[in-house]
Amino acid sequence: MSKRTIALSVLGLIAVLAVVWVVLLRSGPTETAAAAGVSGGGVTLVSDQITLPEETAALPAGSDLITANCTACHSAEMIATQPVLGAEQWQATIDKMRTVYKAPIAPNDDKALIAALTALPSQRAAAPAAR
Ligand code: HEC
Repeated sequence: MSKRTIALSVLGLIAVLAVVWVVLLRSGPTETAAAAGVSGGGVTLVSDQITLPEETAALPAGSDLITANCTACHSAEMIATQPVLGAEQWQATIDKMRTVYKAPIAPNDDKALIAALTALPSQRAAAPAAR
């Protein structure tokens, strides 16, 4: 074996070891530690993985105001599965979102927002329900 062959072999070995080292670092102990959980004060917290269902519901065309004001916090499905409410009840809901949950809904939008909400197909199924 020439010196050159030996030198190249050593270089190759170092390269392989470097790759193995990087791979081991990446898949290493951090992930296993997270899966095992963290204990303290008699409590063990374990990380879990959940798969949320795909959002399949969509609001109908013309619901831009609802999208702009409500879907930051609620899914389209949540909005479209509310019981049938009258205008006053929607107003009360908007007021509650604004005051209790600090939803930044412009007061000037209330009228158009209520019109959009009461016009939803899911809201025209029956007479307003008592609340
Ligand atoms: C800043 C976040 C936020 C925004 C924006 C928001 N909501 Fe809510 N909303 C909440 C929270 C928090 C609750 C209470 C938990 C729950 O029921 O999901 C809630 C609850 C509700 C409920 C359940 C009934 C009730 O009175 O608690 C309805 C209906 C509702 N929101 C409708 C709306 C509509 C319509 C809009 C848009 C005009 C809106 N929300 C915008 C945060 C928000």
